[in-house]
Amino acid sequence: MSLLTQRLAPRIVEEDGSFRSRMLGIAGGMKDVIALGRGDPDFHTPHHIVAAAKAALDANAHHYTGPTGLPELRQAIADDLKASCGLDYSAGEIVVTAGVQESIMLTMLALVAPGDEVLITSPRFTTYDTAVHLCGGIPVPVPTFEANDFALDPAEIEARITPRTRMFVLVSPNNPTGAVTPPAAIRAIAEIALRHDIVIIADEIYARMLYAPNEHLSIATLPGMKERTITLNGFSKTYAMTGWRVGYLAAPLDFVEKVTEPRHTLSINTCTVSQHAALAALTGPQDALHAMLDEYAQRRAWLMPALTDAGFTYGHPGGAFYVYTNVSSSGLAAPEFCERLLKETGVMVFPGTMFGDTSTDYIRISYLQPLERIKVAMARIAAFAQSARATA
Ligand SMILES: Cc1ncc(COP(=O)(O)O)c(C=O)c1O
Repeated sequence: MSLLTQRLAPRIVEEDGSFRSRMLGIAGGMKDVIALGRGDPDFHTPHHIVAAAKAALDANAHHYTGPTGLPELRQAIADDLKASCGLDYSAGEIVVTAGVQESIMLTMLALVAPGDEVLITSPRFTTYDTAVHLCGGIPVPVPTFEANDFALDPAEIEARITPRTRMFVLVSPNNPTGAVTPPAAIRAIAEIALRHDIVIIADEIYARMLYAPNEHLSIATLPGMKERTITLNGFSKTYAMTGWRVGYLAAPLDFVEKVTEPRHTLSINTCTVSQHAALAALTGPQDALHAMLDEYAQRRAWLMPALTDAGFTYGHPGGAFYVYTNVSSSGLAAPEFCERLLKETGVMVFPGTMFGDTSTDYIRISYLQPLERIKVAMARIAAFAQSARATA
């Protein structure tokens, strides 16, 4: 063990990334892999957004900005939150970060002390676990189940509240299940938060990807909730801008003032050119966004019955671009299913165990390929599962 590894601070915990690395390693050595694993839209960033970034470069917009972001971008975000979710934030209450990812870390740095417990909808986006661990806190999963489409049951939250509980992370629509927490449940969660005096982290990164009749309700719009909520959102998923690294948190002004210096310490500011691109995303035409949303809806509508035909069950996803699929009928545990599927058919999907699931029944399929490619992938998945069943 190297000297540096011996000197690691206790806050650095072992997160097991070996399975992901192995999968990516296998895929790297193969031709024509159909990637339905990552949550990275297959679309290019809309042209006018790229053009705005180029114009920003030509206009020498390549200096630092203030740590909370370009004033005009913060204003555009505040306007968008009002128009799309009914949220009341001023421009001063927005902190632009390097993706939602940096907002998550900043939030945990600000609010989690050693020993604090953080509840989170599960299966889950495990960045939350890592961020909570790094701050000495304890992530506490709140389970959801296929039998009711992975709907979050507020009673499951309340049952896990202890004197150490500091906050609940509400991710709706959820990654990896696509489950949308309906307005009635959001209201019940708000009551729980008020009753037990806990803070809500509302990760709404998938809120624009919603399939009828599902509805999104931003919890910070409810009475008494803005002061105890941090709303997170960003551009990666909505505008197919994963590599640009722009996200934000929205929170009351005095909290924003307190996190401005730590935010400066993390990376000073979000890439200036990317901020100009994000501004164009919000203020420019929205037709490309609607075209992408239509395409996701078509893919989802095709994929769900195809999964049923292949002998799988799943939780009906109300939003996002994932189907959390039960592959236990294949006779294989999900990690083995995914590794063999990749090696034998060239289709990459990820097991639910990568999302903190203790069950090995599930894989996450992200429908982030053109429909024709998804059809090819699905034929391979169905044939693979059939042969696994036959030899089980
Ligand atoms: C629920 C959730 N939150 C946050 C992120 C981070 O997104 P980004 O940092 O690209 O904005 C992701 C990415 O997959 C996610 O699924």
